[in-house]
Amino acid sequence: MKLLVVGGGGREHAIIKKLKENKAVSEIFALPGNGGMEKDATCVNIGAKDIENIVKFACENGIDYAVVAPDDPLVLGAVDALEEKGIPCFGPRANAAIIEGSKVFSKNLMKKYNIPTAEYEVFTDMEAALAYLDTAPIPTVIKADGLALGKGVIIAQTREEAKDAVRSMMADKVFGNSGDQIVIEEFLTGPEVSVLAFTDGNCVKPMVSSMDHKRAGDNDTGLNTGGMGTVAPNPYYTDAVAETCMQTIFLPTIQAMNAEGRTFKGCLYFGLMLTPNGPKVIEYNCRFGDPETQVVLPLLESDLLTVMQATTNGTLADTEVKFAGKNACCVIMASNGYPVSYEKGYEMTIPEEISQNVYVAGAAIKDGKLVTNGGRVLGATAIADTLEEAIADAYVMVDKIHFDNAFYRHDIGAKALKAGRN
Ligand code: AMP
Ligand code: GLY
Repeated sequence: MKLLVVGGGGREHAIIKKLKENKAVSEIFALPGNGGMEKDATCVNIGAKDIENIVKFACENGIDYAVVAPDDPLVLGAVDALEEKGIPCFGPRANAAIIEGSKVFSKNLMKKYNIPTAEYEVFTDMEAALAYLDTAPIPTVIKADGLALGKGVIIAQTREEAKDAVRSMMADKVFGNSGDQIVIEEFLTGPEVSVLAFTDGNCVKPMVSSMDHKRAGDNDTGLNTGGMGTVAPNPYYTDAVAETCMQTIFLPTIQAMNAEGRTFKGCLYFGLMLTPNGPKVIEYNCRFGDPETQVVLPLLESDLLTVMQATTNGTLADTEVKFAGKNACCVIMASNGYPVSYEKGYEMTIPEEISQNVYVAGAAIKDGKLVTNGGRVLGATAIADTLEEAIADAYVMVDKIHFDNAFYRHDIGAKALKAGRN
């Protein structure tokens, strides 16, 4: 079988490595991929948002199955366009990807179907939003409606900060049209859990839970990033919490999307907060998380391609989705200065004996050598019987990898370890 994976980060590298385990897979094309995954896939220089050329490539190269991994192409309708040409795909159609593409849509969906989430108001008029903030409870959370490269959420500790955020989104348009509508919502507290779930639109099979580390610096300091590391499972996500989430959040969401005529197939990502009043949805993503995927998929014991095809064919209920009862830790190595500004082009060394456990996010081949080509450069994932060992092993790998100006957090998994001991 010939497969195509749209995207080019660490998440896509983890998906590709897992897909390759299926003996029926003869070739995997990554569009665009990156220089660090060339051993695992044939990288083709077509951008993840260039839907016209993705479809053309798929048709011309006899692709049997396509996986659309990033949010933008999903929201832009890459799955619809590929399916129109008869190419089966993993991922939701555009009318379902809106669950991530519009925060206003997802908040209204949750309200309509009684799915627990933060209280909120929607504004299309800046003056009305500013007036509301005169009396809104503080801290408060301001969210741009549309995709904003993961940066469209501002937690404001003061009224002035909240108003500045509203002005920057609605008047200065820092996120473009994504700020035409905004959501102002209640500030929630509690441990955060990421749960990725396979679904065919009827059945939902959650993957092992995970914990992201979004801030750039140790002890959750510094700017928000795309994610500096992950562990799985998340110790806060007990069996009892999982059952509550299944009954109050996962199944109701799948059913709500069906009721709206927007059946969701693929991977639905639930960003949850375990508040004192029970689990609530912070956000939905219409795709695998990055770097959650880099700890979740290495623990998957079932064949990924088979599970993905079951979400497409509607046979997920009859398909086993099994995870190893182990722990995983992924430490992201970035270029100094990320997420603001950083240099590229530093030569990278990844020892052969650990390369199977390294997921490359931002690299290129230059003069025959692998060089850094992004903010987040790679992630090293270790699997072990205990979380403590997984963390230690991941950092041993990090020590063996070299590129100039590398930086990483030193405390990935520390919070989970502490929680697990309580
Ligand atoms: P996002 O970019 O949507 O992943 O959100 C970034 C982060 O903002 C989340 O991981 C949460 O830590 C935080 N956040 C979002 N909404 C809320 C909320 N209502 N209350 C507290 N924290 C929030
Ligand atoms: N790690 C969070 C995300 O993928 O959006």
